[in-house]
Amino acid sequence: MTTDQKIALVTGATSGIGRATAEQLAARGHHVVVSGRDAERGDAVVQGIREAGGSADFVAADLRDEAGARELAARATELGGGRVDVLVNSAGIFPFGPTAETTEQGFDDVVGINVKAPYFLVAALAPAMAERGEGAVVNVTTMVAEFGAAGMGIYGASKAALVLLTKSWAAEFGPSGVRVNAVSPGPTRTEGTAAMGEALDQLAAAGPAGRPGTAAEVAEAIVFLATDAASFVHGAVLPVDGGRIAV
Ligand SMILES: NC(=O)c1ccc[n+]([C@@H]2O[C@H](COP(=O)([O-])OP(=O)(O)OC[C@H]3O[C@@H](n4cnc5c(N)ncnc54)[C@H](OP(=O)(O)O)[C@@H]3O)[C@@H](O)[C@H]2O)c1
Repeated sequence: MTTDQKIALVTGATSGIGRATAEQLAARGHHVVVSGRDAERGDAVVQGIREAGGSADFVAADLRDEAGARELAARATELGGGRVDVLVNSAGIFPFGPTAETTEQGFDDVVGINVKAPYFLVAALAPAMAERGEGAVVNVTTMVAEFGAAGMGIYGASKAALVLLTKSWAAEFGPSGVRVNAVSPGPTRTEGTAAMGEALDQLAAAGPAGRPGTAAEVAEAIVFLATDAASFVHGAVLPVDGGRIAV
Protein backbone atom coordinates (compact mmCIF):
# COMPACT_ATOMS: atom_id res chain seq x y z
CA MET A 1 0.00 0.00 0.00
CA THR A 2 1.28 3.48 -0.83
CA THR A 3 0.39 6.66 1.08
CA ASP A 4 -1.55 8.27 -1.81
CA GLN A 5 -3.58 5.13 -2.50
CA LYS A 6 -7.34 5.27 -1.87
CA ILE A 7 -8.61 2.60 0.52
CA ALA A 8 -11.77 0.76 -0.48
CA LEU A 9 -13.73 -1.64 1.72
CA VAL A 10 -15.94 -3.96 -0.35
CA THR A 11 -18.34 -6.25 1.49
CA GLY A 12 -19.52 -9.40 -0.24
CA ALA A 13 -16.24 -9.34 -2.15
CA THR A 14 -15.72 -13.11 -1.97
CA SER A 15 -18.28 -13.60 -4.75
CA GLY A 16 -20.17 -12.16 -7.69
CA ILE A 17 -20.75 -8.43 -7.94
CA GLY A 18 -18.64 -7.60 -4.88
CA ARG A 19 -15.67 -9.59 -6.16
CA ALA A 20 -15.86 -7.96 -9.61
CA THR A 21 -16.01 -4.55 -7.89
CA ALA A 22 -12.99 -5.35 -5.71
CA GLU A 23 -11.02 -6.46 -8.79
CA GLN A 24 -11.95 -3.36 -10.79
CA LEU A 25 -11.20 -0.94 -7.93
CA ALA A 26 -7.83 -2.64 -7.42
CA ALA A 27 -7.11 -2.34 -11.14
CA ARG A 28 -7.86 1.40 -10.78
CA GLY A 29 -5.18 1.68 -8.09
CA HIS A 30 -7.23 1.35 -4.90
CA HIS A 31 -6.01 -0.74 -1.99
CA VAL A 32 -8.99 -3.02 -1.45
CA VAL A 33 -10.13 -4.63 1.78
CA VAL A 34 -11.97 -7.70 0.54
CA SER A 35 -14.59 -8.92 2.98
CA GLY A 36 -16.91 -11.91 3.33
CA ARG A 37 -17.26 -14.92 5.62
CA ASP A 38 -15.42 -17.49 3.50
CA ALA A 39 -11.65 -17.13 4.04
CA GLU A 40 -10.77 -19.55 1.26
CA ARG A 41 -12.69 -17.56 -1.35
CA GLY A 42 -11.45 -14.29 0.16
CA ASP A 43 -7.81 -15.37 -0.02
CA ALA A 44 -8.31 -16.43 -3.65
CA VAL A 45 -9.71 -12.99 -4.54
CA VAL A 46 -6.78 -11.26 -2.81
CA GLN A 47 -4.30 -13.53 -4.56
CA GLY A 48 -5.88 -12.79 -7.95
CA ILE A 49 -5.71 -9.04 -7.31
CA ARG A 50 -2.05 -9.25 -6.23
CA GLU A 51 -1.13 -11.40 -9.24
CA ALA A 52 -2.69 -8.73 -11.47
CA GLY A 53 -0.44 -6.11 -9.82
CA GLY A 54 -2.98 -4.68 -7.37
CA SER A 55 -3.03 -4.56 -3.60
CA ALA A 56 -5.62 -6.07 -1.27
CA ASP A 57 -6.20 -7.74 2.09
CA PHE A 58 -8.92 -10.11 3.23
CA VAL A 59 -10.89 -9.54 6.41
CA ALA A 60 -13.42 -12.17 7.44
CA ALA A 61 -16.69 -10.79 8.81
CA ASP A 62 -20.15 -12.13 9.49
CA LEU A 63 -22.28 -9.06 8.84
CA ARG A 64 -25.63 -9.32 10.51
CA ASP A 65 -25.48 -6.87 13.40
CA GLU A 66 -23.87 -3.69 14.69
CA ALA A 67 -20.96 -5.49 16.39
CA GLY A 68 -19.93 -7.32 13.19
CA ALA A 69 -20.15 -4.12 11.15
CA ARG A 70 -18.17 -2.02 13.62
CA GLU A 71 -15.49 -4.69 14.01
CA LEU A 72 -15.02 -4.86 10.22
CA ALA A 73 -14.95 -1.06 9.96
CA ALA A 74 -12.26 -0.89 12.66
CA ARG A 75 -10.14 -3.61 11.07
CA ALA A 76 -10.43 -2.05 7.58
CA THR A 77 -9.47 1.36 8.97
CA GLU A 78 -6.45 -0.19 10.67
CA LEU A 79 -5.38 -1.94 7.43
CA GLY A 80 -5.97 1.33 5.55
CA GLY A 81 -3.45 3.14 7.74
CA GLY A 82 -6.19 5.05 9.58
CA ARG A 83 -8.81 5.58 6.89
CA VAL A 84 -11.30 4.09 4.50
CA ASP A 85 -12.13 6.30 1.50
CA VAL A 86 -14.65 4.11 -0.29
CA LEU A 87 -17.27 1.75 1.14
CA VAL A 88 -19.16 -0.61 -1.17
CA ASN A 89 -22.04 -2.45 0.51
CA SER A 90 -22.46 -5.48 -1.76
CA ALA A 91 -22.92 -8.28 0.81
CA GLY A 92 -26.51 -9.41 0.65
CA ILE A 93 -28.81 -12.39 0.70
CA PHE A 94 -31.86 -12.96 -1.49
CA PRO A 95 -33.96 -15.89 -0.31
CA PHE A 96 -37.14 -15.93 -2.39
CA GLY A 97 -40.40 -17.60 -1.36
CA PRO A 98 -43.99 -17.20 -0.29
CA THR A 99 -44.70 -14.76 2.53
CA ALA A 100 -46.60 -17.45 4.45
CA GLU A 101 -43.50 -19.65 4.50
CA THR A 102 -41.06 -17.00 5.75
CA THR A 103 -39.77 -17.71 9.25
CA GLU A 104 -38.98 -14.99 11.76
CA GLN A 105 -35.32 -16.04 11.60
CA GLY A 106 -35.36 -15.76 7.80
CA PHE A 107 -36.93 -12.31 8.06
CA ASP A 108 -34.31 -11.19 10.61
CA ASP A 109 -31.46 -12.58 8.48
CA VAL A 110 -32.54 -10.57 5.42
CA VAL A 111 -33.00 -7.38 7.40
CA GLY A 112 -29.80 -7.93 9.39
CA ILE A 113 -27.52 -8.55 6.41
CA ASN A 114 -29.19 -6.26 3.85
CA VAL A 115 -30.07 -3.29 6.07
CA LYS A 116 -28.56 -3.38 9.55
CA ALA A 117 -24.99 -4.20 8.50
CA PRO A 118 -24.75 -1.46 5.81
CA TYR A 119 -26.38 0.94 8.30
CA PHE A 120 -23.75 0.41 10.98
CA LEU A 121 -20.87 0.29 8.48
CA VAL A 122 -21.90 3.75 7.32
CA ALA A 123 -22.37 4.83 10.93
CA ALA A 124 -18.82 3.66 11.69
CA LEU A 125 -17.06 4.97 8.57
CA ALA A 126 -18.89 8.00 7.13
CA PRO A 127 -18.20 10.41 10.01
CA ALA A 128 -14.43 10.05 9.50
CA MET A 129 -14.88 10.52 5.73
CA ALA A 130 -16.90 13.67 6.49
CA GLU A 131 -14.16 14.91 8.79
CA ARG A 132 -11.62 14.49 5.97
CA GLY A 133 -14.06 16.19 3.57
CA GLU A 134 -14.18 13.36 1.06
CA GLY A 135 -15.38 9.82 0.62
CA ALA A 136 -17.81 7.67 -1.31
CA VAL A 137 -20.35 5.02 -0.35
CA VAL A 138 -22.05 2.81 -2.92
CA ASN A 139 -24.94 0.58 -1.86
CA VAL A 140 -26.05 -2.36 -3.97
CA THR A 141 -29.85 -2.51 -4.09
CA THR A 142 -32.05 -4.33 -6.62
CA MET A 143 -34.64 -3.70 -9.31
CA VAL A 144 -37.24 -5.48 -7.12
CA ALA A 145 -36.95 -2.63 -4.62
CA GLU A 146 -38.80 -0.62 -7.30
CA PHE A 147 -41.80 -2.83 -8.11
CA GLY A 148 -43.77 -5.66 -6.56
CA ALA A 149 -42.64 -9.19 -7.37
CA ALA A 150 -44.31 -12.29 -5.92
CA GLY A 151 -42.08 -14.12 -3.45
CA MET A 152 -39.55 -11.28 -3.29
CA GLY A 153 -41.38 -9.14 -0.74
CA ILE A 154 -39.06 -9.08 2.24
CA TYR A 155 -35.96 -9.03 0.01
CA GLY A 156 -37.35 -6.12 -2.04
CA ALA A 157 -38.44 -4.32 1.11
CA SER A 158 -34.98 -4.65 2.67
CA LYS A 159 -33.40 -3.14 -0.43
CA ALA A 160 -36.09 -0.44 -0.63
CA ALA A 161 -34.94 0.53 2.86
CA LEU A 162 -31.39 0.73 1.52
CA VAL A 163 -32.59 2.94 -1.36
CA LEU A 164 -34.12 5.38 1.13
CA LEU A 165 -31.03 5.21 3.35
CA THR A 166 -28.89 6.05 0.29
CA LYS A 167 -30.85 9.28 -0.16
CA SER A 168 -30.90 10.05 3.58
CA TRP A 169 -27.14 9.57 3.84
CA ALA A 170 -26.61 11.73 0.74
CA ALA A 171 -28.49 14.48 2.61
CA GLU A 172 -26.62 13.83 5.88
CA PHE A 173 -23.05 13.41 4.65
CA GLY A 174 -23.06 15.04 1.18
CA PRO A 175 -22.55 18.58 2.49
CA SER A 176 -19.32 17.31 4.09
CA GLY A 177 -18.01 15.92 0.79
CA VAL A 178 -19.14 12.32 1.15
CA ARG A 179 -21.08 11.08 -1.88
CA VAL A 180 -23.59 8.30 -1.21
CA ASN A 181 -25.17 6.52 -4.17
CA ALA A 182 -26.60 3.14 -5.13
CA VAL A 183 -26.52 0.74 -8.05
CA SER A 184 -29.72 -1.20 -8.65
CA PRO A 185 -28.90 -4.40 -10.55
CA GLY A 186 -31.32 -6.53 -12.51
CA PRO A 187 -30.83 -10.30 -12.90
CA THR A 188 -27.08 -10.88 -12.88
CA ARG A 189 -25.15 -14.13 -13.27
CA THR A 190 -23.17 -14.76 -10.09
CA GLU A 191 -22.48 -17.68 -7.79
CA GLY A 192 -25.46 -16.46 -5.78
CA THR A 193 -27.91 -16.78 -8.68
CA ALA A 194 -26.37 -19.91 -10.25
CA ALA A 195 -29.05 -22.12 -8.70
CA MET A 196 -31.79 -20.09 -10.43
CA GLY A 197 -30.74 -21.52 -13.80
CA GLU A 198 -33.26 -20.63 -16.53
CA ALA A 199 -35.46 -18.68 -14.10
CA LEU A 200 -32.82 -15.93 -14.23
CA ASP A 201 -33.09 -15.79 -18.04
CA GLN A 202 -36.89 -15.63 -17.77
CA LEU A 203 -36.65 -12.77 -15.27
CA ALA A 204 -34.23 -10.96 -17.57
CA ALA A 205 -36.25 -11.58 -20.74
CA ALA A 206 -38.74 -8.84 -19.80
CA GLY A 207 -36.13 -6.06 -20.18
CA PRO A 208 -34.81 -4.42 -23.38
CA ALA A 209 -31.43 -6.17 -23.06
CA GLY A 210 -33.29 -9.49 -22.90
CA ARG A 211 -30.50 -11.24 -20.99
CA PRO A 212 -28.98 -11.36 -17.51
CA GLY A 213 -26.09 -9.05 -16.79
CA THR A 214 -22.59 -10.03 -15.71
CA ALA A 215 -21.00 -9.13 -12.40
CA ALA A 216 -18.40 -7.10 -14.29
CA GLU A 217 -21.11 -4.99 -15.98
CA VAL A 218 -22.64 -4.11 -12.60
CA ALA A 219 -19.21 -3.46 -11.09
CA GLU A 220 -18.43 -0.89 -13.81
CA ALA A 221 -21.34 1.23 -12.56
CA ILE A 222 -20.32 0.80 -8.90
CA VAL A 223 -16.77 1.89 -9.72
CA PHE A 224 -18.11 4.93 -11.60
CA LEU A 225 -20.10 6.03 -8.54
CA ALA A 226 -17.20 5.27 -6.18
CA THR A 227 -14.67 7.40 -8.04
CA ASP A 228 -14.19 11.05 -9.03
CA ALA A 229 -15.83 10.51 -12.45
CA ALA A 230 -19.08 10.82 -10.46
CA SER A 231 -17.98 13.89 -8.47
CA PHE A 232 -21.35 15.68 -8.97
CA VAL A 233 -23.51 12.60 -8.34
CA HIS A 234 -25.17 12.40 -4.90
CA GLY A 235 -28.10 10.27 -3.76
CA ALA A 236 -28.58 8.59 -7.14
CA VAL A 237 -29.90 5.08 -7.66
CA LEU A 238 -28.46 3.91 -10.97
CA PRO A 239 -30.37 1.03 -12.59
CA VAL A 240 -28.04 -1.52 -14.17
CA ASP A 241 -30.77 -3.93 -15.12
CA GLY A 242 -30.82 -4.21 -18.90
CA GLY A 243 -33.59 -1.59 -18.90
CA ARG A 244 -36.04 -3.74 -16.93
CA ILE A 245 -37.56 -1.01 -14.75
CA ALA A 246 -37.71 1.47 -17.63
CA VAL A 247 -40.26 -0.42 -19.70
N1 LIG B 1 -27.14 -11.38 -8.72
C1 LIG B 1 -28.25 -10.71 -8.94
O1 LIG B 1 -29.06 -11.05 -9.84
C2 LIG B 1 -28.58 -9.49 -8.13
C3 LIG B 1 -29.62 -8.67 -8.57
C4 LIG B 1 -29.94 -7.55 -7.82
C5 LIG B 1 -29.23 -7.24 -6.68
N2 LIG B 1 -28.23 -8.07 -6.27
C6 LIG B 1 -27.52 -7.71 -5.04
O2 LIG B 1 -26.15 -7.64 -5.31
C7 LIG B 1 -25.39 -8.03 -4.18
C8 LIG B 1 -24.41 -9.11 -4.57
O3 LIG B 1 -25.12 -10.19 -5.16
P1 LIG B 1 -24.36 -11.43 -5.81
O4 LIG B 1 -25.28 -12.04 -6.77
O5 LIG B 1 -23.00 -11.00 -6.21
O6 LIG B 1 -24.31 -12.38 -4.51
P2 LIG B 1 -23.45 -13.68 -4.16
O7 LIG B 1 -22.71 -14.19 -5.34
O8 LIG B 1 -24.42 -14.60 -3.48
O9 LIG B 1 -22.45 -13.09 -3.10
C9 LIG B 1 -22.95 -12.62 -1.87
C10 LIG B 1 -21.81 -12.07 -1.07
O10 LIG B 1 -22.34 -11.62 0.20
C11 LIG B 1 -21.56 -12.20 1.24
N3 LIG B 1 -22.37 -12.50 2.40
C12 LIG B 1 -23.53 -13.20 2.46
N4 LIG B 1 -23.96 -13.29 3.74
C13 LIG B 1 -23.04 -12.66 4.49
C14 LIG B 1 -22.90 -12.41 5.90
N5 LIG B 1 -23.78 -12.88 6.80
N6 LIG B 1 -21.83 -11.71 6.32
C15 LIG B 1 -20.92 -11.23 5.45
N7 LIG B 1 -20.98 -11.43 4.12
C16 LIG B 1 -22.03 -12.14 3.66
C17 LIG B 1 -20.99 -13.50 0.64
O11 LIG B 1 -19.76 -13.80 1.25
P3 LIG B 1 -19.43 -15.17 2.02
O12 LIG B 1 -20.22 -16.26 1.39
O13 LIG B 1 -17.96 -15.29 1.92
O14 LIG B 1 -19.89 -14.85 3.39
C18 LIG B 1 -20.73 -13.09 -0.81
O15 LIG B 1 -19.48 -12.48 -0.94
C19 LIG B 1 -26.40 -8.47 -3.11
O16 LIG B 1 -26.60 -7.43 -2.21
C20 LIG B 1 -27.66 -8.73 -3.93
O17 LIG B 1 -28.83 -8.54 -3.18
C21 LIG B 1 -27.88 -9.19 -6.97
